[in-house]
Amino acid sequence: MTAQTVVVKIGGSTLGHSDTSLADTVALHARGVNVVIVHGGGAEISRWLDRMGLESRFVDGLRVTGEEELRVVTAVLSGLVNKVLVTDLIASGGRAVGISGVDGRLAHAVITKPELGRVGDIETVDPHVLTVLLAARCIPVISPVCWGTIDDRPCLLNVNADDVAAEIAVALNSTSLIFLTDVPGILDARGEVISRIASREVDSLIAAGTIKGGMIPKARACERASRSVPRARIIDGTVAHALLREMEADPGGTTIVTDELA
Ligand SMILES: Nc1ncnc2c1ncn2[C@@H]1O[C@H](COP(=O)(O)OP(=O)(O)OP(=O)(O)O)[C@@H](O)[C@H]1O
Ligand SMILES: [Mg+2]
Repeated sequence: MTAQTVVVKIGGSTLGHSDTSLADTVALHARGVNVVIVHGGGAEISRWLDRMGLESRFVDGLRVTGEEELRVVTAVLSGLVNKVLVTDLIASGGRAVGISGVDGRLAHAVITKPELGRVGDIETVDPHVLTVLLAARCIPVISPVCWGTIDDRPCLLNVNADDVAAEIAVALNSTSLIFLTDVPGILDARGEVISRIASREVDSLIAAGTIKGGMIPKARACERASRSVPRARIIDGTVAHALLREMEADPGGTTIVTDELA
């Protein structure tokens, strides 16, 4: 039987609380599961932009990224955040390798909303580098800085980490895509967790303003991935052993299901 492949997106909001997520990742990997980590780092980027006198601005949960902000995003995500995660995974006993969407030409992005600046949508994923790392029993840790072109010149693009996780999960034919964030799942208007949601309901919850901010790209990413990835989940990464509990019955959180299964 081929090994299961699980793509885990670790939210920047849970970094620092995520001690058990990394130990869980190594434990899952030791059980023979292929684990790929994609990380965000929104809070850390905002702190560094602030230190440099630059403002953080968002449109529908996506960071507006000018030339100067892109330098900070790249340094913080592909440098600091990525290396801290890799070090912590190594300390937990995993052979983690930190890369970005640029390395091995993993993820090619294009600018679709020029008003956001150097922000891209993923157009193609070349999973070769991940296949090689997984075959060598490494744990790839991916920062969402991707490659693209502007006026025929190569450039870096900031891509929302939720989108990167979803596209990679699809390209790897993953068995599951799990978003670890700082809330217990998608919450309804009364603040209660929606345990199961059909893809088609995502847009109406966004239109109603129930899903907003950083949950918009996450819900949309799940919606897209759910068409081919059997399990798409949003769970609270601040809960101890959240990731290992995913292997048990009734783990809580939100499952996004494709409309045909709803
Ligand atoms: N309906 C909703 N249910 C739950 N959370 C929501 C909802 N609408 C908006 N949110 C917000 O979305 C946030 C999660 O997205 P956010 O982008 O902040 O975190 P992340 O994606 O885990 O981290 P990062 O962006 O650093 O990778 C929650 O903390 C919450 O404030
Ligand atoms: Mg986010």
